[in-house]
Amino acid sequence: MTTYRTRHGGTLRADDVGAEVQLAGWVARRRDHGGVAFIDLRDASGIVQIVVNPDEAPASSEVLRSLRTEFCISVTGRVRARPEGTKNPEMVTGEIEVAVAILDVLSAADVLPFQLDDRFDADEVRRLKYRYLDLRRDRMAANLRARSAVIRAMRHVMEERGFLEVETPTLVVSTPEGARDMLVPSRLRPGQFYALPQSPQLFKQLLMVAGVERYYQIARCYRDEDFRSDRQVEFTQLDLEGSFWDQEGVLDTLEAIAAGVVREVRGVDIPRPIPRMTYNEAMTRYGTDKPDVRFGMEIQNLDELFADSEFRVFADNMASGGTVRGLNVGNQGLSRTGFDKLVDQAKDLGAKGLFWMVVEQNGSVRSPVAKFLRSEELTGLVSAMEAQPGDALLVVADDFHTAVGVLGQLRLDLGQPARHDDLEFLFIVDFPVFEHAADGGLAPAHHPFTAPVDVEEMRTSPDTAISKSYDMVLNGAELGSGSVRIHDPEVQAQVFEILGISQEQAQARFGWFMEALRYGTPPHAGFAIGVDRLVAILQNEPNIREVMPFPKTQTGADPLTGAPGRVDEGQLEELGIEVRADVKAEWSASQTDAVPSESS
Ligand code: AMO
Ligand code: AMP
Repeated sequence: MTTYRTRHGGTLRADDVGAEVQLAGWVARRRDHGGVAFIDLRDASGIVQIVVNPDEAPASSEVLRSLRTEFCISVTGRVRARPEGTKNPEMVTGEIEVAVAILDVLSAADVLPFQLDDRFDADEVRRLKYRYLDLRRDRMAANLRARSAVIRAMRHVMEERGFLEVETPTLVVSTPEGARDMLVPSRLRPGQFYALPQSPQLFKQLLMVAGVERYYQIARCYRDEDFRSDRQVEFTQLDLEGSFWDQEGVLDTLEAIAAGVVREVRGVDIPRPIPRMTYNEAMTRYGTDKPDVRFGMEIQNLDELFADSEFRVFADNMASGGTVRGLNVGNQGLSRTGFDKLVDQAKDLGAKGLFWMVVEQNGSVRSPVAKFLRSEELTGLVSAMEAQPGDALLVVADDFHTAVGVLGQLRLDLGQPARHDDLEFLFIVDFPVFEHAADGGLAPAHHPFTAPVDVEEMRTSPDTAISKSYDMVLNGAELGSGSVRIHDPEVQAQVFEILGISQEQAQARFGWFMEALRYGTPPHAGFAIGVDRLVAILQNEPNIREVMPFPKTQTGADPLTGAPGRVDEGQLEELGIEVRADVKAEWSASQTDAVPSESS
């Protein structure tokens, strides 16, 4: 114990009544009754009520006059039972209070820029600008503790299973992982740049070549992507890799990690084994590769029902190789305009349109398109969708990916899990090797180092070939991804070829890696879990910023420190870098500078 305290206030209980204690912490709240001050004293362990009565502690009355919220104080006093009627069953320390004899201010606090009250959320830029105050709030302190607990549980499983923690560099060379790189200029080699790692992917594979058979790292990764609620430029992975390992080995380890983490943070056991679903099944039933299976509302295939429909939209769609899919969204009490909004939404999501139908009390179907459908089509629809009177049915006729994708999104908008804090882990397996990129070419569905199930199949039908990659999904969020890797340099070369990367390009960019594969590379596989996403879900936080100690805003800024900021001309000079005149002109026009601005 330090000289500042003999106990943590939040740990005091009825058993401690009579004990003389010294406490230190912050003034969370102060109420005054007839000259007596009741103070909620907060330290890292929680809150305890202290009572300062100037009659009992005359020296304190002077101090009390200046005492405001968030002053840092130290007190000495005796624990006593609270009088009947003033006990607070909501607080773990609610049966007792500390009668203060000596009150010392360790450090005063200015008037706060916002109220540190969990019931009110201050403007986020302000919270981030004063993050050190924001983190004093119970909710944020609990998130920090949960984050630490998650990482502790992860390390425990990794160490127990014989994984070696190895650090990999953060100043690396650019590798193709799908996102834009964050670059760092080199002073010793002006005009050249390091990239910050999007993940330790190639280094962990090199560690396998190096004979480290089980590797892990709590790794910081950097991707210059657009910010979203589950994306930051800088984030943390539990990264792992193993040799002489296959998909089963990886999934078994991931299950142990998930179980260990949930036990540590929530104190419960997850159902095991974690269910698995193929990519195709996930797309077919839920329209996404990260289904939220906390509720049903599955997409139905209506192709058979409408196979010989005379309705032109269905017939044309069928003729062009499309499909008809439906979703029973239950009784949503939607009005005509409500449905019109859904139609617009479906169109925004890329569908040609959306048909809606409502099942009437007598079992008949009310819909703008009912008149185009035969009566057996309508009754068939009601039974295929297991519809009850009042249910709304949504139908999309389109190509497979559009039809299920749009209905999958509407499912998420209209469906509700019964219990929000349920945890439904899921493994998605059998992903395709490639997907279609925006430019029409092929892109790796995971990354280009992922092994195909069958090399021959990958060559002859790259569109449909299946890979040995897998995802971990929790409550509809992608928690992590991994794969069995290619350990044969010839196969690796073929993948680059299919991706349209020429031999020369591959040699120039990954020659160093391809060469490493030539020195007795063991078969290996691995995975990475997004730590921020996992902690956010466990803490029921809608945004990963809430579980990151010092995150960036939507626009990539840190209002606290002012990053990103400008640097001296001299620094740029050394790096051989010049800021373009038009960019400088914009600086003076917008008058923004490195000083944090509250409106940014
Ligand atoms: P992947 O790119 O799928 O795989 O990333 C793994 C997990 O990292 C998390 N994640 C993010 N979290 C916050 N902000 C971001 N911008 C962000 N990007 C990714 C997600 C994601 O599932 N090297 C491979 C793994 C492997 O094959 O072993 C990789 O990084 O939770
Ligand atoms: P339109 O002829 O585009 O005005 O569409 C008439 C109605 O049919 C609108 O409600 C559209 O949303 C719907 N619709 C059109 N094409 C499709 C389709 N392929 N699948 C589902 N609904 C469609």
